[in-house]
Formats: sequence, C-alpha cells, structure tokens
Amino acid sequence: MDIDRLYGLALEAASSSYSPYSKFRVGAALLCASGKVYTGANVENRSFGLTVCAERSAISAAVSAGERDFEGIVVATPDASYPVSPCGACRQVLSEFLGPEAPVAFGASRGGVVRSTMGELFPHDALHDLKGSS
Ligand code: THU
Repeated sequence: MDIDRLYGLALEAASSSYSPYSKFRVGAALLCASGKVYTGANVENRSFGLTVCAERSAISAAVSAGERDFEGIVVATPDASYPVSPCGACRQVLSEFLGPEAPVAFGASRGGVVRSTMGELFPHDALHDLKGSS
C-alpha cells in the first residue's frame, strides 16, 4: 500500500471538510482491494453529536458504491501539529471492514505519518466473530 500517495489524497479530501465549529479539517483515503480509492471528509453539525468523521465518510462512500474488501486507510489532519489517530467510534466502524493486519496511517502538518494497524488500534476485537455466526 502506497501510504504517501494515499496521504496526498487524504490531504486533498480534507480541503472538502465541513467543520465550521471545530475548524479542524480531516480527510481520509480508503484503499479498496479493487484498487480504487474512496475519500471522505468530516461533516459537522450544529447538533455536535451528529458529526460524521472523515473515516466514516470514506467507509460510507465506498460501501455505498458496492465495495466490501479494503486494504487500509490513511487519515490527514492538517490543522494539527501532531498526527491524530482515528477516534474510538471510527475504530469500531473500521474494524467491521478491515482485518487486524490492515494498515491504518495518520499524519498532520508536522510529525510525519504514523504507520499503525487495525489490530494495534482496536485489539481484542472478539465481536468481529458475530459476522460468522447465526
Ligand atoms: N474527526 C475526524 O473526522 N476523524 C478523527 O479521527 C478525529 C476527529 C473530526 C470530528 C470533528 O469534526 C473534528 O474532527 C474535531 O473533533
């Protein structure tokens, strides 16, 4: 997975961020097994709890387009001086589609791009097994 290329796409996506309340732009670039990349930006709401993070925007765009298999995701937070990792809600949602080995990378205006994995960010994901039951 070309993290530098995906970071560029995530950064570009951050420019579409709708974040009048936090003024904190976030962009995400999600690589599909098909080779396609779907991007997302954070979309805030005046009812703050309804805000959708960039990672979940990207997942929604890709899944809505019929994608189901993903390689990894890269997140850009250009308004932060240090790399900001996906929030807890996003880790849960990403874990629905990304296995423990999948790369998750995040970078900001400084500090370089941190390379992590889904398993590092969301360990002990036992509920994932629900998918196989019923
Ligand atoms: N945000 C994201 O989009 N993704 C993250 O991983 C961290 C937080 C957004 C939510 C809100 O619009 C703004 O960043 C400030 O929390």
